[in-house]
Amino acid sequence: MNVLVTGGSGYIGSHTCLELLNQGHTVVAVDNLCNSSRLALDRVEQLTGKTIPFYQQDVRDEEKLSQVFAQHPIDCVIHFAGLKAVGESVSKPLAYYSNNLDSTLVLCKVMNAHGVKRLVFSSSATVYSGDNAMPLQENSKIGNCSNPYGWTKYMCEQILRDIAKADPEWSVIQLRYFNPVGAHESGLIGEDPKDIPNNLMPYISQTAIGRREQLSIFGGDYPTHDGTGVRDYIHVVDLARGHVSALDYLMNHTGEEIFNLGTGHGYSVLDMVNAFQQANHVIVPHCITDRRPGDLPTCYADPEKSREMLGWTATHDLDAMCRDTWRWQSQNPNGYEA
Ligand code: NAD
Ligand code: UD1
Repeated sequence: MNVLVTGGSGYIGSHTCLELLNQGHTVVAVDNLCNSSRLALDRVEQLTGKTIPFYQQDVRDEEKLSQVFAQHPIDCVIHFAGLKAVGESVSKPLAYYSNNLDSTLVLCKVMNAHGVKRLVFSSSATVYSGDNAMPLQENSKIGNCSNPYGWTKYMCEQILRDIAKADPEWSVIQLRYFNPVGAHESGLIGEDPKDIPNNLMPYISQTAIGRREQLSIFGGDYPTHDGTGVRDYIHVVDLARGHVSALDYLMNHTGEEIFNLGTGHGYSVLDMVNAFQQANHVIVPHCITDRRPGDLPTCYADPEKSREMLGWTATHDLDAMCRDTWRWQSQNPNGYEA
């Protein structure tokens, strides 16, 4: 299939382009590089020996996006492009609503105009309401988002649901990611946060390499096995493969489906620190500080629906997540900019 990937040079986008090419699909990528480097896709090309037509442009630029559709026979779209920093979304809500909603609206409009009606959307476990029992199932309660970023995902899901309902030719898959970590085993592509990392794994690896003094563990008094927060960490290559499985499903179905992409296993912050130290023989200085506002004690997926309907399961264990993160970090201590 010929797949248009928006946000293709980002962390998850670049890993997905790689898996798509490895599975025999062709890829066209659009990214404005507001949070990524062109080098990511150069390296995907290097790893696969294949070429990715790349357009550095904003998805919200309707005319330019339309030209991309006119130039390539696109079969379906994977829509990663968006802003994703939770804290920043609280201080810059307009930027988040504008970018994440407008990019989705413009994309769907252009897709409709070109008769392309198959879409995979990057949603997040953040759309689930905080008062659900674990594990989270696709029909667990959504809403009560604690920040504008979460609301943008919630609203985009609703927009796409309505589009699929109104036009029976549309096929939409909403993938709710849990906590993507790790990197491709080559160490050539990985996560490259522009500022101080908000998420746990890049903070751990930057601390291990000496870019950060120590990791603050947000809360040691949660009702979990060791008092620290529990999450469902998933290797980014497993996540990327989930998109390939979703495309296969998309080609044979219409309507809207939602799938969790997680492992179903929860690990605490201390489990992650210990696993990282053990896997890589490094020290991660850390201390326990106050809880981070908005954090839940525990969050993990029920991945059964994805297994049953997409035939997809995560195969990389925690050790692989830690080793691959460290290979990327140690080979690229300053990310792509090095
Ligand atoms: P990322 O920032 O690495 O990738 C997003 C890409 O989109 C970047 O390359 C950025 O330059 C590009 N972009 C942003 N706005 C754009 C626009 N208007 N036009 C063109 N390009 C634009 O983030 P990621 O971790 O790869 O996440 C990809 C998607 O998955 C995002 O939608 C994110 O919200 C979602 N998601 C991520 C996580 C996570 O933990 N990484 C979890 C759940 C959901
Ligand atoms: C966060 C976002 C969520 C987003 C997800 C993936 C919040 C409240 N939620 O989720 O919307 O979908 O990232 O991008 O920000 N931790 C530390 N020290 C750190 C960093 C994190 O102890 O320096 C802890 C957190 O308290 C949490 C765990 O590590 O228990 C994972 O945190 P993080 O990687 O930020 O992911 P989430 O909080 O699950």
